[in-house]
Amino acid sequence: MDIATHWNHLHNEPRFRPIYPSDHAVRFMMANRGMLEGSTQVRFLDIGLGAGRHVKLAAELGFAAFGVDISFSGLTHARQRLLEAHDPSRLALSSFRALPFPDQCFELVMSFGVFYYGTAEDMQKGIAEAHRVLTPKGKLFAVLRTTQDFRHGKGEYIAPNTFRLTISKTNELGTVQHFLAIHDVPDYFRAFRNVVFEKTETTTGQRTQLHSDWLITAEK
Ligand SMILES: C[S@@+](CC[C@H](N)C(=O)[O-])C[C@H]1O[C@@H](n2cnc3c(N)ncnc32)[C@H](O)[C@@H]1O
Repeated sequence: MDIATHWNHLHNEPRFRPIYPSDHAVRFMMANRGMLEGSTQVRFLDIGLGAGRHVKLAAELGFAAFGVDISFSGLTHARQRLLEAHDPSRLALSSFRALPFPDQCFELVMSFGVFYYGTAEDMQKGIAEAHRVLTPKGKLFAVLRTTQDFRHGKGEYIAPNTFRLTISKTNELGTVQHFLAIHDVPDYFRAFRNVVFEKTETTTGQRTQLHSDWLITAEK
């Protein structure tokens, strides 16, 4: 199954359409809210917006919110949420590998739990596209899986830190995923300045499954 079909199936189920934003995403938006003062428009792009929980918040805060996703089903739900927030939808069906925007048109770009779907080359392409569409001094926030995450190594080996998952404990069976070791982060984001990253971890399954993500902020 290709990744778009995989996500179309998931987005059709309400339990895979979270309503509330992640506090990490809220923090990124609030930290950059000052950009709205004295500016007619601050453009915010969510790459892989899913069902739109973050793009809706961005619109409510006053950003000109845009979003792309490879899943038509996700976009349909996101569009509905934006209509409820009385925001004109600026959404596009697109892969993160080739964004449908000109260079340097977003002050803020976020990609929350998306670039790891694919190979190292896919992830690097997504990061390069985020860099391309950012304005000079624009800010990026990306959430990517660490090599400590419980899914790492649970599947067919494809390349270093890249696996086609064979565990049925997750909703991601069959997807190819790429994980980042600590030294990979500065390397993958070397085109950016001021790269700062933290780690967030939580468990599920009576502490048997560690969910481990890098929280990466960077400036063009
Ligand atoms: C875990 S969900 C995260 C959704 C959203 N960022 C959120 O935090 O609610 C991953 C999203 O990435 C999208 N996705 C996966 N591969 C993609 C690609 N190559 N290009 C664009 N979106 C992709 C999926 O359709 C899905 O909506």
